[in-house]
Amino acid sequence: MRQAGRYLPEYRELRARAGDFLTTCLTPEIAAEITLQPIRRFAFDAAILFSDILVLPHALGQSVRFEEGRGPVLGALTQVSDIDDLAVRGFTDRLAPVYETVRRLRADLPAQTALIGFAGAPWTVASYMIEGGSSKDFAKAKAWAYRDPTSFQRLIDLLVETTTDYLIGQAEAGAEVLQLFDSWAGVWPETALRRWCLEPARAIRARVRAAHPDVPMIVFPRGVGVLYETFAETCGAEGVSLDTTVPLPWARDHVQSKVAVQGNLDPIALLAGGETQREETTRILNTLAAKPFIFNLGHGILPETPLAHVQALVDQVRAWPAQA
Ligand code: CP3
Repeated sequence: MRQAGRYLPEYRELRARAGDFLTTCLTPEIAAEITLQPIRRFAFDAAILFSDILVLPHALGQSVRFEEGRGPVLGALTQVSDIDDLAVRGFTDRLAPVYETVRRLRADLPAQTALIGFAGAPWTVASYMIEGGSSKDFAKAKAWAYRDPTSFQRLIDLLVETTTDYLIGQAEAGAEVLQLFDSWAGVWPETALRRWCLEPARAIRARVRAAHPDVPMIVFPRGVGVLYETFAETCGAEGVSLDTTVPLPWARDHVQSKVAVQGNLDPIALLAGGETQREETTRILNTLAAKPFIFNLGHGILPETPLAHVQALVDQVRAWPAQA
């Protein structure tokens, strides 16, 4: 989940000087520095590239900007011809700054710190492209898929293709693990979920593996409930990232028995701190840490999270099992 961001004073300070968010993501010197900030402070085992999932629609020629207090704003796709107008040719060149950031990071990070590259999954990215930003009910994007699955499939296929290239580009530049964020997978009924989330993840995983068999992939199909097990069984990723709602013993028996798991402390428990944070962390470690496991949050860290809570979490995880 997010490591960098507004909970860090050094991030706020650099962002204030760096200009708009997208430019920050696409300026290698600054993006690399922001990636390193949380590593310097907390010495995490892995660093996640500082970028955003919406860099891809930007590279496809869609207008993307981030407004303070409002989040992302995109020039929404409203008709089939808008899909055909996306600029697939040349999109790799527009992502070159991200690859440069990855190269710098691999050179600057401590050798023992893994570098995680990432992309948004096709459905989650498509939802922003059609809704024009964040959404409560995804009515525009879902209705498009239900009414006209043929053209929606075209958009998903285009995103499978370009996301695959993007992830391969990151692996070639030095990313050692790749994560695919399907933050809004949980809004679909099962049949649609299989078509718009599971199958695209499987296709991306298979294609990236053909190019880079040694680079593991983690998928994050947030909110899919019992279908987490299906993702673990069939999408081909080596790891699955659990959202905060997945019950731990169930995850151990049905997901971790098949692939490595990552997660899933509630970011609000980290915001609240104290005994609850400590108890929840202990529960996660006691249930999942004996098998392949990456301790993480179940979703992104909130800007108002106190640094002392993050430090307490890092100390507790590092000390486990001695002080559990
Ligand atoms: O730790 C990191 O910094 C890793 C980089 C990273 C960011 N976004 C930076 C970011 C990653 C992995 C993401 C993923 C991302 N971006 C997702 C998938 C994961 C998830 O959270 O579900 C999604 C859906 C997005 C789209 C996005 N980006 C939104 C909706 C927002 C606005 C949210 C907000 O808090 O205002 C962003 C902005 C964003 N991306 C920030 C960061 C650090 C906050 C920017 C800032 O205020 O400076």
